[in-house]
Amino acid sequence: MSFCRHCTKAGNYHHKQEVLAERTANANYLNKSKYGKYRVLKSQSLVGKKSLWYARFDTFKVKTTPEQSVLNEAQRIAREYIQGGIFNTVFVGGAGRGKSHLAMAILQEVNEAMKDKKFSCLFVNISELVREIKNSWNYSDKKTEEERLSTLMRNVDLLVIDDLGTESTFSKDNSWVQGIIYNIYNAREGNTIITSNFTGQEMKNKYDDKIVSRIMEGSKNSVIKFEAISDKRKAS
Ligand SMILES: Nc1ncnc2c1ncn2[C@@H]1O[C@H](COP(=O)(O)OP(=O)(O)O)[C@@H](O)[C@H]1O
Ligand SMILES: [Mg+2]
Repeated sequence: MSFCRHCTKAGNYHHKQEVLAERTANANYLNKSKYGKYRVLKSQSLVGKKSLWYARFDTFKVKTTPEQSVLNEAQRIAREYIQGGIFNTVFVGGAGRGKSHLAMAILQEVNEAMKDKKFSCLFVNISELVREIKNSWNYSDKKTEEERLSTLMRNVDLLVIDDLGTESTFSKDNSWVQGIIYNIYNAREGNTIITSNFTGQEMKNKYDDKIVSRIMEGSKNSVIKFEAISDKRKAS
């Protein structure tokens, strides 16, 4: 078993501080180095399920017409981002339909294609974001982590906000999350991909109308519905 020399001396606190300082330094470094922006995706994303890192267009299995159709749309969207298009995308539909898979596949495709162009991509799962920020509340510099993350989310060139509308995001205790997301979404001029298990109307019931309208408005031609697709978590 190994111990952090700071933890054994002064409790966990110093250790956590150093981790945060290191991450901030990493983020600054990433912005400056040649392939720094290319590395943002891998080093700064909050993904949750690790297997999602392997999601690509060519690992998306197509057996039915609706699956072919969402794959085609996702590939079109990736192409448009690569060509410099500025717009938002919304993936809606039931759980296990491949929304997160295709959102990650778009990011990976765009990130590779833009490797030399100082273009940054970031994947943020909402539950992971909430967890990360809540963790930082245990420490006295609690604003640092929240600010670091929202600055990152405001400034990356292409952002995925994954699983918007999960219960934890919408519970009353978490209304601060809505504030953060609203500010981020508002500050970004396009190039945000949102995935959600909820339809626009369902979201409006749970969420501030203002933010839902804003999201739908910016995504007119790219609201992709994952309908008539089976739940892949139940298969096999
Ligand atoms: N068509 C598909 N081909 C291969 N894997 C898929 C496909 N659709 C979903 N998956 C896999 O099934 C799991 C659930 O899909 P996910 O994208 O997380 O669903 P959603 O975000 O719609 O809830 C993931 O591991 C994903 O990679
Ligand atoms: Mg998902």
